[in-house]
Amino acid sequence: MRKWRYERSNSLRNKRSTFRAGQLPLDALLIDRDSPEPIQRQLYAALRDLILRRVLTPGLKLPSTRELSKRIMVSRNTVVRAYEQLDSEGYVETRQGSNTCVADLPLSPSSAIDDDSGKQTGHLSNFGHAFDSLELPQFSVLHTALRPSTPDVASFPFKTWNRLLGGNLLRQNFDLFNYNYPTGYPQLKKAIASYLQAYRGVRCEAHQILITNGAQSGLDLLSRVLLDRGDTVWMEEPGYDNARVLFSAAGAHIKPLHVTSSGWDLDRVPDGDIRLIYSTPSCQAPLGLTMRMEQRLRLLEIAHRKGAWIIEDDFDSEYRLTGASIPAMQGNDSFGRTIYIGTFAKTLFPAIRIGFVVLPRSIEPSVNRAAFYCGHQVSLPLQATLSDFIMSGHFARHLRRTRRLYAQRREVFLELSRDLLGEWMEPFEADVGIQVAFRFKRSFNDAAIARRANELNLNVVPLSRYCHFSDPIRGLVFGYAALDESSMRTHLSTLVEIIRASEGA
Ligand SMILES: Cc1ncc(COP(=O)(O)O)c(C=O)c1O
Repeated sequence: MRKWRYERSNSLRNKRSTFRAGQLPLDALLIDRDSPEPIQRQLYAALRDLILRRVLTPGLKLPSTRELSKRIMVSRNTVVRAYEQLDSEGYVETRQGSNTCVADLPLSPSSAIDDDSGKQTGHLSNFGHAFDSLELPQFSVLHTALRPSTPDVASFPFKTWNRLLGGNLLRQNFDLFNYNYPTGYPQLKKAIASYLQAYRGVRCEAHQILITNGAQSGLDLLSRVLLDRGDTVWMEEPGYDNARVLFSAAGAHIKPLHVTSSGWDLDRVPDGDIRLIYSTPSCQAPLGLTMRMEQRLRLLEIAHRKGAWIIEDDFDSEYRLTGASIPAMQGNDSFGRTIYIGTFAKTLFPAIRIGFVVLPRSIEPSVNRAAFYCGHQVSLPLQATLSDFIMSGHFARHLRRTRRLYAQRREVFLELSRDLLGEWMEPFEADVGIQVAFRFKRSFNDAAIARRANELNLNVVPLSRYCHFSDPIRGLVFGYAALDESSMRTHLSTLVEIIRASEGA
């Protein structure tokens, strides 16, 4: 067994002490006496790091506490406590009457990571690799200008919400503080069911509702429960990219259900079986179009004929800003093939992370079990607060107020964009949703324009990002709901400069 030999380096006399042992590069073992972190903790962390990186090899004898304390000029107690901590976590072994030795640990995950590249050398599943080419969005506060799917958070009645939330916490209803109601808070499920029946024409009972962490967690669950590798998913093109990612990660083959200004192309049904159809019939993502009744009935019939499930993602239909609300397709489904998904991300605010799925009875138990075991539950105090918010009429009031606000803003935005962008772009004819999609009239690289806009903190999204097959539509999607007129004018003017520059490039 090797024995430690410490040499006090010159720097020990300075405020930062560095020491060496034999040939070992112990410069890494730094004690900073000015740091607010206790010395014992620093010593423990430094030794642990050396052990994990195999600089201190298994079996190596550590110096006695007395010796080390002298060498590094700290109290013996400090060394004793650091050793005790290492011992209790299993990094070292202390035998009665003998020295403390480095334990024989299997190579730790941290030693399997190349410090410089940060690249993992371990194995990932196919599912793990499905996200390799995607970026984790790095949104900042600055980065909200023109961002699609962004409601006006400032109009949310936070005082009312806080009062209701405070009430739920102070009442100390212990139901809300335990592992209860894995599929959702019963009163919230009831409130959502009544709302959906009355305002969205959805046919459901409260027990069919599963509360999820936003629509995305509902999509994740459904793709896991319904899809096997090699299954066919027929999804809108252009279509919601975050849904596509999940279907691909589940190993499905995605076939395009083309959507153009004239509607959904239901004539080109994929050959063979279809396991799942994903659609946004009341507010097409990203174009904002609405599917006509005749097409809805045809789509339902195709699903029935092919034995496919339909996911109807009704993410933004509350903001139909002119004319009467158009009921959900689920209400027309007499075959029980439609799974309806909703979210409060637009009607309240995205960070609330509450959404829901309306499950056909035949899959209700399976999806509920999967939701529980995959940990898709939502905070119960928040669910209870949302249920109070809906039941006491605040939700309906907030919807009325924001509908009025967004209708005005949409009109102003369309007028401004006609004036400023009209030479290059035109909007899709749509009157629903808190974003609008525009197509370029001539050939432009929408991704490059969006990239440049992002650099200038405009969070526009290129339409081509929603397309994965031939001939992507070129255009941009803008969020307008959170902007007043003067910010709209400023941002659109910046965009005009970007487009002009790209014309000259
Ligand atoms: C088509 C579509 N579905 C669902 C959502 C909402 O997802 P979540 O409730 O997870 O925020 C969005 C958000 O932008 C969307 O565009």
